[in-house]
Amino acid sequence: MADSPSSLTTLRLSTSEQDIAQALAIWRAGGRVAVPTETVYGLAADASNATAVNGIFAAKQRPANHPLIVHIASAEQLSDWASDVPLAAQQLAQAFWPGPLTLLLPKAAHVPAEVTGGLPTVGLRVPSHPLLSQLLHAFGGGVAAPSANPYKSLSPTSAEQVLAGLDGRIEAVVDGGPCEWGLESTIVDVCGPTLRILRAGPITQEQIEQVVGQPVDMPQQHTAVVPGNVKAHYQPRTPLRLVAADAHAENGIGLLAHDAKWLQAFAATSTRLLPADAVGYGRELYGALYEMDQRGFDELWLLTPPYEPEWLAIHDRLRRAASR
Ligand code: TXA
Ligand code: MG
Repeated sequence: MADSPSSLTTLRLSTSEQDIAQALAIWRAGGRVAVPTETVYGLAADASNATAVNGIFAAKQRPANHPLIVHIASAEQLSDWASDVPLAAQQLAQAFWPGPLTLLLPKAAHVPAEVTGGLPTVGLRVPSHPLLSQLLHAFGGGVAAPSANPYKSLSPTSAEQVLAGLDGRIEAVVDGGPCEWGLESTIVDVCGPTLRILRAGPITQEQIEQVVGQPVDMPQQHTAVVPGNVKAHYQPRTPLRLVAADAHAENGIGLLAHDAKWLQAFAATSTRLLPADAVGYGRELYGALYEMDQRGFDELWLLTPPYEPEWLAIHDRLRRAASR
């Protein structure tokens, strides 16, 4: 079930009882089901089944050494997947789970190397999306799930966007509506004496420091700390450029901005207004890029958002989305 010809019929599942049972049956048989999470849609398969996990890589065409996050129903399952759960991990799980935070912990012996890209650590997360939570409780095990997009392209925040990239390459997608955050989870390495944030996300450095009561490292976002943390990522097909407010757009360019006044100077048909607050902006960003990407522009220009702490995860994604 896990190899990936692009000739599969991808089932569109709803949140009905019958469809949820079908999604579980596909996981149990080693297949892939794209599911909504509160961050972005994930492409999920049984994390204890190496063949099923290989099917995820095949569908996404993702390099095999890029580790995947294991999603579990509750923090009580942490010790099923991690060989050691330090105090800081327990504190962070207590504070932010279920929610958009991934903890890197030393992996338990049985976790397949396919999941961790051969690394000694495993990424674990308890998602808060009610549908996925229900599925995970019924499944009992963990599911490995990267974002449900072809390698390096935009992460999907709706079932329709999942299908645009993976239709015919996966067994099913469950339509659970739009994602609450729209940006991938914050990743924290809790293995060493000093905690490190490896990917900025909805949970901020300040929130994490408050819970653990000590300073937390945030390595430069552009350093590739692990395979998978790459410079060109989250990309629309149309070249994306980050511009300052004094940029002068010509024909053939699609404009995105959080500033309605700035957009007003240009033709209404080629613009997309984004919310001016960071949370709302994060929620709509990928969807807006996805939409503008369908419209045949030569380039997309995006007005650089403010450099404030709450915009950090957005700047991280935009830098990669615009990297050529
Ligand atoms: O919000 C999210 O985290 C979404 C949803 C679906 O849960 N998932 C997601 O997965 O963004 P993915 O595969 O697109 O990004 C996960 C990244 C990897 O690229 C890798 O950099 C890092 O997590 N990662 C996972 N396991 C790791 C490990 N053991 N060591 C270091 N980095 C790891
Ligand atoms: Mg991804």
